[in-house]
Amino acid sequence: MEIGFIGLGQMGAAIAYNLLQAGHQLIAYNRTREKTAQLAALGAQVAERPAEACNADIVVTMLADDRAVEAIVFGQDGLLEAMPSGATHVSMSTISVALSERLTTAHRAAVQRYVAAPVFGRPDAAAARKLFIIAAGQADTLARCQPLFDAIGQRTLVAGGDPSAANLLKLTGNMLIASVIESLGEAIALARKGGIAPERYMDIMSQTLFTIAMHANYGALIADERLEPGFKARLGLKDIRLVLQAADALEVPMPTASLLHDQFIALCAQGDGELDWTALALLAARNAGLTDGLA
Ligand SMILES: NC(=O)c1ccc[n+]([C@@H]2O[C@H](COP(=O)([O-])OP(=O)(O)OC[C@H]3O[C@@H](n4cnc5c(N)ncnc54)[C@H](OP(=O)(O)O)[C@@H]3O)[C@@H](O)[C@H]2O)c1
Repeated sequence: MEIGFIGLGQMGAAIAYNLLQAGHQLIAYNRTREKTAQLAALGAQVAERPAEACNADIVVTMLADDRAVEAIVFGQDGLLEAMPSGATHVSMSTISVALSERLTTAHRAAVQRYVAAPVFGRPDAAAARKLFIIAAGQADTLARCQPLFDAIGQRTLVAGGDPSAANLLKLTGNMLIASVIESLGEAIALARKGGIAPERYMDIMSQTLFTIAMHANYGALIADERLEPGFKARLGLKDIRLVLQAADALEVPMPTASLLHDQFIALCAQGDGELDWTALALLAARNAGLTDGLA
């Protein structure tokens, strides 16, 4: 399949690599051109402008946020102008429900197809083809995209016929993960200050009350103090903002999401927005006056 691929950040680079490995033909674009070098060496064509990456059956975007997607889709030389009619835009970025609705309308008006396909899984999962793809859109369009999804993930789960359903589902998933990190961070700070080593704390918790991978994995990141970015805290803040926007639009109070918003703001204000979002635990440790380890 001919695939245009736009956005070679931590996630996009790993996904694009796996598409090439699966035998698809790739035309790749990234704002910072140097990031295309590795893919070019493996046989991908490099596009100088987003429009050049649109000469394909499917164009994937894996960009940071709403602003980046808007620039690439609606800007000059953007997808909307350049994609042929009948071609499909697969939007894998974690974006707002409102922008996904706007993309649905705009692509339909341009006689193009649009699928939202945000993912669960960090860059290591992307590299290992272990992503969960949460897809939504028309059934026949999803079927066309399935070979692409099969090449990059372990499973595709369909959220519905309306693309924005996938975005809403993805955002609420991230809110749940952030609330796990926040509560683990608080609990581990208390345990540490009370003299229990984080490793021992997590060892006991993950064998008793919290046996699911989510707690074990994030607990281990906190205990091992691994804060190099897999998913940056500033992107976590972006997602919580988008959760709150959706909650506002649908009149759903979400006090936990509001608290997480403030915690991410504090983290970013203290200059730690480029750390992994597990750094919420760093904030909890600092607030507890802990000065060694995570603090
Ligand atoms: N990392 C994770 O664990 C993870 C997991 C699931 C989903 N996601 C979602 O996946 C998306 C990408 O995440 P990531 O971790 O790969 O982020 P990243 O490493 O920061 O990469 C962001 C990408 O967006 C591009 N970009 C940013 N602003 C742009 C603009 N104004 N115009 C054009 N391109 C722009 C960047 O280009 P440059 O290279 O030029 O900066 C880069 O290609 C995000 O929506 C994120 O929420 C991430």
